Amino acid sequence: MSPETEPLFASEAIALRIGELGQEIADAYRDRRKPPILVAVLKGSAFFLADLVRAIDIPVEFDFMAISSYGPDHEKQGRVRILKDLDRDIADRDVILVEDIIDTGLTASYLVSTLRARTPATVEICALLDKTVRRIAPLEVRFSGFDCPDQFVIGFGMDYRQRFRTLRNIYAWDASDPLSEEVLLREDRRA
Ligand code: IMP
Repeated sequence: MSPETEPLFASEAIALRIGELGQEIADAYRDRRKPPILVAVLKGSAFFLADLVRAIDIPVEFDFMAISSYGPDHEKQGRVRILKDLDRDIADRDVILVEDIIDTGLTASYLVSTLRARTPATVEICALLDKTVRRIAPLEVRFSGFDCPDQFVIGFGMDYRQRFRTLRNIYAWDASDPLSEEVLLREDRRA
């Protein structure tokens, strides 16, 4: 494996950390009356959610939302449009928003306010990666997988223009020196 294709987070480390997060979540919600509802944001968080729910040894429920950023100036506006809403009511339930990565925090804070307006008992955030140095919106990430350096990352559900989601490892992506998806996929399976 060449240095350019060295993972930033290898699949083994990701799996271990998800196991720990699953344990933390199970311990936090074990004594609650009803199972927590994990809400994942499509499409990036689907891979994380699938592994996370199987690492939690108490009953959980889950649902999905799909969103799109509002216009090109998303960072400044921090508003998102809901393309697919939850299938169910979350009133009086414990909700965990599951995110692949939190960058400025604008998307997650918008989603948290949207969810809070539906009067759940609690809302917490679980993120696999947290780019804390890029934060604009103050946000408490109760369950955080890894602190992520200020680099654009791909793999494990995360994309660059809808590509690279199926990589098992997470890599830093350099748009000025792009690797081909085919090469990366081959290296990824070998790593
Ligand atoms: P935020 O609103 O700036 O926190 O951005 C959150 C969303 O932007 C994430 O859910 C991702 O969809 C996307 N995103 C942010 N940083 C990255 C990255 O490094 N790689 C891939 N997607 C990213």
